[in-house]
Formats: sequence, C-alpha cells, structure tokens
Amino acid sequence: MSNQSSAGRSTAPASPLLSVKQLRVDLPVAKGTLHAVRGIDFHVERGEMLCLVGESGCGKSMTSLALMGLLPRKAQISADCLNFDGVDLLTVSERERSNLRGARMAMIFQEPMTALNPAYTLGNQLCEALRRHQRVSRKAAHDRALYLLKRVGISAAEERMRQYPHQLSGGLRQR
Ligand SMILES: Nc1ncnc2c1ncn2[C@@H]1O[C@H](COP(=O)(O)OP(=O)(O)OP(=O)(O)O)[C@@H](O)[C@H]1O
Ligand SMILES: [Mg+2]
Repeated sequence: MSNQSSAGRSTAPASPLLSVKQLRVDLPVAKGTLHAVRGIDFHVERGEMLCLVGESGCGKSMTSLALMGLLPRKAQISADCLNFDGVDLLTVSERERSNLRGARMAMIFQEPMTALNPAYTLGNQLCEALRRHQRVSRKAAHDRALYLLKRVGISAAEERMRQYPHQLSGGLRQR
C-alpha cells in the first residue's frame, strides 16, 4: 500500500506517462503480412521529450498511429503494455479515446497538406478542436486559437484564421 501523506507525496515511484512494451503492428498485404512494427519498447515520463529516429519505413509513423488509435482498419495491433496515464490504449472505448485525442494526446501529421480539412477555414478547425474538449464560448475559443497561432510565430493571425488550408504554406500548415 502506498503511503500518501497529507502533502500528496507518495513513496511509490510515479509510473511513466506513456508505457509501450512489445508493440507490434501487422498489415495484411498481397504477399502475406507486413510486420510494420516488430516489438518496440519505450516509455515517456511526464515532461520528458522522446525522439524516435530511424530509416524511412522502419515504423515510426505506424508506432505513432497505433498510440493515437488511428491505424488503418486492416492493421492488427498487439502489445504486452500500451498504457497512457493509467488508460489501457488496447482496450479503451472509442468514446474515451476521443476524449483523450486532441486534449491529452495529439499528433502533428507527417503530411500537412492532408492533415487539415480543405473545406474549413483554419479558425474553424482550431475552434472546433478546442470546443470539443472545453466548455467555452465561440468567442473564447477564437481568442485562444488566435493566441496559440501567435505563440508559434504566425503573423497576421486574424487573417490566417479566415484562410483555408490551400492558402497556407506547408510550414504554416504544420505549425
Ligand atoms: N497503409 C499501409 N498499408 C500497408 N503498409 C503500410 C501502410 N503504411 C505504411 N506501411 C508500411 O509499414 C512500414 C512502416 O511504415 P511507416 O510509415 O511507419 O514508416 P516511417 O518510419 O514513418 O517512415 P518515414 O520516415 O518515411 O516516414 C513500411 O514498410 C511501410 O511501407
Ligand atoms: Mg513516417
């Protein structure tokens, strides 16, 4: 039993924010099965930054997509442990995953051209994500989105908010 003091300190070491043990992703292809990820282990502590580095096709994107629950439908995923802050990502419901995604876990996709919806303005898409997770007014979401655009060094942020993805450069889209 952990010894929880009144100051909220515990004697037990805090578990990592993200634990990945023996993650595997298999994809059925014409010639059989493609083992896109073959048993990767890593963990990320709170406040820690971890970089996965490897040659093209080694499975970095598949690993990330597996964590986000965004693998192609045909993909088969297995792991000894896939845990984010106490949530088992292998068995989490779609509803709970959707509550996590965009609030506590997020992904900046490799291809910024297809990551944004071409039919909606940048402002629309940013505000939608904010309002999906927080009970805030349209105005408050707009102000927050504007603040965030400025934080990542985007000039003329008001104008950018009204623009569609095709009107932005690749670097702007990725930011
Ligand atoms: N939708 C898919 N269907 C079948 N195989 C796929 C699919 N997407 C990726 N793969 C294969 O899975 C393997 C891992 O690909 P992944 O995209 O994770 O590589 P990566 O490390 O992100 O590479 P890069 O550095 O080029 O982005 C590769 O062999 C790739 O060809
Ligand atoms: Mg990739």
